[in-house]
Amino acid sequence: METILSIRNLSKTFYLHEQEKEIHSCKNINFDLEKGGFIGIVGKSGAGKSTVLRCIYRTYLASSGTAIYNSLAYGPIDLLSADERQIISLRKAEIGNVSQFLKTLPRTTAKQHVVNAALEAGFSSKESHIRAEEMLNYFRLNSTLWDIYPTTFSGGEKLRLNLAHAMVKRPRLLLLDEPTASLDPDTKLLVRDLLLKLKNEGTSMLGIFHDLEFMDGLCNEVFNISKGSFT
Ligand SMILES: Nc1ncnc2c1ncn2[C@@H]1O[C@H](COP(=O)(O)OP(=O)(O)OP(=O)(O)O)[C@@H](O)[C@H]1O
Ligand SMILES: [Mg+2]
Repeated sequence: METILSIRNLSKTFYLHEQEKEIHSCKNINFDLEKGGFIGIVGKSGAGKSTVLRCIYRTYLASSGTAIYNSLAYGPIDLLSADERQIISLRKAEIGNVSQFLKTLPRTTAKQHVVNAALEAGFSSKESHIRAEEMLNYFRLNSTLWDIYPTTFSGGEKLRLNLAHAMVKRPRLLLLDEPTASLDPDTKLLVRDLLLKLKNEGTSMLGIFHDLEFMDGLCNEVFNISKGSFT
């Protein structure tokens, strides 16, 4: 088996200077993600789950540790210390992220947001439009919404747009932070089916879920995090 992501001693501490406090958001996290594997992370609210994902995606700068990702573009690279330029290029082409929050550019319609992701990943203009429409249809985002700015979307619509945006790239590594939190049971099943399909196509995934049933049959391994550490 080929390891695609190897995390060693990942820790993140926040210093709240005004309160003279240290918050250990995650401590000494270690795991290996195999190619085509799916690792689930569970744990109580505030345990440090999102912090682990954010350090890997580099939304947060980790305090210590390494996250060696076996990239197509650069070979093995430490995501915790790689330079900005490399991280930006990996995010465009190889590493997808679905968070609970939608980040779009101003004056970009829902469809254009997904088309842009496909273009960034290197698909042609025509192919990007086809793939974007496929994804929007798959997640049942009504076509009347395609030409609208997503700021007015409902929580579930935003989440489905986020999923379409991340998955249209067919990323090699996909990070999922509660991607089903505000979805109805039918839409949850759609997400699960697509995750299984991506997994079978070789996408490696790291996901946070509250719904244990959802993870059943999807994850190869599940880690429980408590007070920042895997238990
Ligand atoms: N930017 C930040 N500044 C200060 N503290 C932070 C920051 N981000 C996270 N934390 C703290 O780190 C701890 C872990 O937060 P994290 O978001 O990783 O938890 P979580 O397990 O994802 O929780 P939830 O299930 O509620 O999403 C929390 O105590 C949180 O307050
Ligand atoms: Mg979280």
